[in-house]
Amino acid sequence: TTHLRSDYTPFPYDIPTTDLLFDLKPELTTVTLWLEFERKNDEPVPLVLNGEHITLQFISLNNEETPLDPSEYTVTDSTLTLHNPPESGMLHIITTCTPNTNTSLSGLFTTGVHLMTQCEAEGFRRMAYFPDRPDVLSTYTVELIADKAAFPVLLSNGNLIETRDLPNGGHMVTWHDPFPKPSYLFAVVAGQLACLEETITQDGAEKLLQVYVEPHDLPKAQFAMDSLKASIRWDKARFGLPLDLERFMIVATSDFNMGAMENKGLNIFNTKFVLAHPETATDVDFEGVEAVVGHEYFHNWTGNRVTCQDWFQLSLKEGLTVYRDQEFSSDQLAEGLSPDAATSARAVKRIDDVAMLRTAQFMEDAGPMAHPIRPNAYEEINNFYTMTVYEKGAEVVRMYETLLGRDGFRRGMDLYFKRHDGQAVTCDDFRAAMADANQADLTQFGRWYEQAGTPTVRVTSEFDANAQTYTLHFAQSNPPVGIELKEANLIKAPLHIPLRVALLGTDIDTLIELKQANESITFENITAEPTPSLNRNFSAPVSIEYDYSDDQLATLAATDTDAFNRWDAVQQIFARAIVADMLEPVFSHEQFDTFRSLLTDESLSPAYRAQLFTLPSFSYLAQLVSKCEPLDPQKLFAARERASRALSKQLQIEWQSLYSTLEPKTAYAYNGVAAGERALRNLALRHISSAKPDTTTTQYAAADNMTDRIAALTTAIHEGQDEALLNDFYNRFEKEALVIDKWFTAQAANPHDANITATLQKLLAHPAFTNPNPNRLRSLVFAFCNANPAHFHATDGSGYRFWAEQVLAIDAKNPQVASRLARTLEQWRTYAEPYQSLMREALQTVFNAPNLSQDVREIVGKALG
Ligand code: ARG
Ligand code: ZN
Repeated sequence: TTHLRSDYTPFPYDIPTTDLLFDLKPELTTVTLWLEFERKNDEPVPLVLNGEHITLQFISLNNEETPLDPSEYTVTDSTLTLHNPPESGMLHIITTCTPNTNTSLSGLFTTGVHLMTQCEAEGFRRMAYFPDRPDVLSTYTVELIADKAAFPVLLSNGNLIETRDLPNGGHMVTWHDPFPKPSYLFAVVAGQLACLEETITQDGAEKLLQVYVEPHDLPKAQFAMDSLKASIRWDKARFGLPLDLERFMIVATSDFNMGAMENKGLNIFNTKFVLAHPETATDVDFEGVEAVVGHEYFHNWTGNRVTCQDWFQLSLKEGLTVYRDQEFSSDQLAEGLSPDAATSARAVKRIDDVAMLRTAQFMEDAGPMAHPIRPNAYEEINNFYTMTVYEKGAEVVRMYETLLGRDGFRRGMDLYFKRHDGQAVTCDDFRAAMADANQADLTQFGRWYEQAGTPTVRVTSEFDANAQTYTLHFAQSNPPVGIELKEANLIKAPLHIPLRVALLGTDIDTLIELKQANESITFENITAEPTPSLNRNFSAPVSIEYDYSDDQLATLAATDTDAFNRWDAVQQIFARAIVADMLEPVFSHEQFDTFRSLLTDESLSPAYRAQLFTLPSFSYLAQLVSKCEPLDPQKLFAARERASRALSKQLQIEWQSLYSTLEPKTAYAYNGVAAGERALRNLALRHISSAKPDTTTTQYAAADNMTDRIAALTTAIHEGQDEALLNDFYNRFEKEALVIDKWFTAQAANPHDANITATLQKLLAHPAFTNPNPNRLRSLVFAFCNANPAHFHATDGSGYRFWAEQVLAIDAKNPQVASRLARTLEQWRTYAEPYQSLMREALQTVFNAPNLSQDVREIVGKALG
């Protein structure tokens, strides 16, 4: 069934309080619920509760001991309906569920020896009958009962009220959350967990901070704790938002579908985003922990205190919270640096974020799943936790800041909380707060919430030497994509686009607000033709088309003061060479001169130079190619490889000298500067490894940290070096699941393994791959299908058949993870033959399979159209 945004109606009852008693047992957990209800209107109306995969044991009204007569209610496999409820009362419902058999990781599930919950978006209904929708806010009191030896730690949201021992080795803990919340923010944890704790004082009040992990992981928890403290400080300093509870808990689990979850006061995390130790985590992992800890903490205000009216508004909390975590990470990178270095550090973060957006989100926006940041329809809401809702949503939030200024944005945030604290609201409410706090007209800006697709801004220029004028003409367009193609007579009106523009060679640097389909702007007193630097710092999530000459790109690469556009110019030079002539990408001598001076420019940070010299990704290039012709993935992959080898060869001396000058002089520490040095040095390693093969083995053995060790391992095996390092790595880290994930990925994503089919079979049969959790599946199956284009796109279709088998096998256990994998083939129409037909066959195989989940069916159905 399709859910429509336009179908929204409020729930007809208030649920002031919700009391829950969990008798926690892995095989069979009993949940007792006391639900207080009050009808909102005069007209009698049935009370419909959601419930799935649970068994009703008892139901009565107002705590009567005699159960309701079965004629008074109806139970289906997804609802419980009370036909004629009184105007108000207390429903008492007992249900059971089976955590042990719950492989979907939604609802209450077992993970190792622990029990945990994941309720967003619709998991609460797998534990109890409830109005499981984000606009029903209720105050929860929760009692947890469990065997004390098996489950010494019992956690839920809010504040700890009471702990009590029970006869027969049981114990009971009571929690109360003073803040009304929707059911998707509810959480329970029961397990044998060790805890790292610290107290902080904020506004004179003591707060207890706790990070719960498996006991053997305790030495890896400090960085998450430090990130939490930094997040708490940052939200207070930047937005005036305090921590509103006596305690704040983070719990790590190895079995998690996504990154983490912002349950009120009890965030539950994938271990990947909690555990960080130099020997087992890379710089990228450290950065990820900091960002996700921040993200979930920031949700406490943007998501929890003010939540979503319905799931179509998901970007209200996700886009805003991603924007906030990006800003937090950027400030963390800049902390303690000189003003210039701080600007450059921020640019590095911005480039990372935009590179990801332009690769994955632009791709989504060009395919069958394209949707506005506020979708109008979905079949399965879990399929809409997308790059568009999150990453493009964050760009839309960033545009408010660009238009209103840092202070204006803050005024908008303040008004948003003043108006809506404790409410479930819409994206329009957020936009209204931004507009009203600044007396700004943001009506047209609302179209960003309505339109799918990546807008194109086509720019042309005219220089009039006699009149000394320079004119820029802008033409914006955003043709229908994805589901929009089915709407007859759809008119996509022009967007309000903030475009930061400078003219290199003049002192013009300005913000242009485009509002019409076609607009021109003329600059006076321009004596020589400038080079336009367009959409600086990526001020709008659009694709700019301007016919730069090679000379102009070289000028931008050498002199643009906007670090983002300077990087982008270098990327365009690379992309042009690779895409324009896929048979023989060549760079001119002048271009190599430009490259050489950038690579050795000591005034540019190593982190930035590493970004400059990272070739555009295969997926990004694939988009460029498919704008002009059907994509031949083998040809594109080979062209990208040749460009890379040309950089190795022509800049060999520079790479070698960078590799030695960047040799670490101090022991490992995670910070942006040191991470940048390692990134550039490990890039250099890749470029020198075929000329100097022992460097990889030497670095591997000498490394005091995972960043350098995994870089050496990956480089070595991609160079086809022997199994010794792989075996050594496995034996060294056998007990570290997250590191073994890296071991799988290094092999599954190896583009140069001539026997990849055999390698995959060996890995799939490996003892460490029995009963793989989502992280392990991502490390092998996803790594092969999404990060090994050379082999995935084998001309015999074996990669696609592997994909189909895996989607179906995973779907039987975990639809959410399967449907992520299912998305791999959604660009099939852009491919040349034989790829296109082989992909369609694989999609059809999946679509025809019996018992397909709603999750996978939506993705594959849309792909096949
Ligand atoms: N709200 C979480 C976050 O962004 C993501 C939870 C997604 N869960 C899901 N089942 N789709 O931090
Ligand atoms: Zn989030």
